[in-house]
Amino acid sequence: MSTILISGANRGLGLEFARQYAADGWTVLAASRSGSDALSQLADSHANVELFELDVADAASIARLSDEIGERPIDVLLNNAGFYGSVGFAEGGIEHQAFGDTDYENWAKVMEVNVFAPMRMAETFVDRVAASEQKKVVTLSSMLGSMELNTIGGLYAYRSSKAAVNMVMKSMGLDLMKLGVRAVAMHPGWAKTDMGGPDAEIEPAEGVTGIRQVIAALADEHMGKLVAYDGSILPY
Ligand SMILES: NC(=O)c1ccc[n+]([C@@H]2O[C@H](COP(=O)([O-])OP(=O)(O)OC[C@H]3O[C@@H](n4cnc5c(N)ncnc54)[C@H](OP(=O)(O)O)[C@@H]3O)[C@@H](O)[C@H]2O)c1
Repeated sequence: MSTILISGANRGLGLEFARQYAADGWTVLAASRSGSDALSQLADSHANVELFELDVADAASIARLSDEIGERPIDVLLNNAGFYGSVGFAEGGIEHQAFGDTDYENWAKVMEVNVFAPMRMAETFVDRVAASEQKKVVTLSSMLGSMELNTIGGLYAYRSSKAAVNMVMKSMGLDLMKLGVRAVAMHPGWAKTDMGGPDAEIEPAEGVTGIRQVIAALADEHMGKLVAYDGSILPY
């Protein structure tokens, strides 16, 4: 049976990924910083779900996770954990990281979680991914990181982090080809989570079901691309 390692598995899309892969019989290595009742319940009711502690912004935490997991093959490394960064409040509603209102310390945190962590996770676990049957590294990016699709501005921290991780995954895809590992960035849709908010377009289950289908059918044509949950290719 296949094995997936999921970061940020305690809520939002990460929890939904854990639920769906667990129901499908995969071994789910569910890593999270803070855990949750929902994730504990999932582990209690599924012997194939194992819980681990992981702060993706902390190199020592990733190293500890690596030791705990040991030398077993990992079919899919799913870099799901993400951070939107701070938003300001202005008259008329939320200012989404508006020009002139930049919190640089917070932006650095966004980069740590959204860019450096997927890289560090991949560097840490690549041998175990390469030793698996499926050999896939998937990072949840966002269409908000697309230059071409940015028509309204703002959101400097989040957008720049996702644009950066798209480039990270592009290089990684090329570099890991020699190991037979496919590495790709994906957009899960605008989903109703804490990050997506209540007005988002889709339920987490829809985005996750779609991403799982794309992961299952991952092919050379997806390499170096930003792939959406419905299988379409988004412009960078
Ligand atoms: N929802 C959307 O509409 C949407 C759209 C495009 C892309 N995405 C991407 O999809 C991924 C999941 O998004 P989501 O909507 O599920 O977000 P979310 O509801 O805000 O959940 C974020 C998850 O990331 C975890 N996380 C953040 N910083 C972490 C850290 N330092 N170490 C470990 N875990 C950390 C959180 O853990 P804690 O509970 O410990 O904070 C939580 O599990 C993200 O990469 C996001 O950028 C989401």
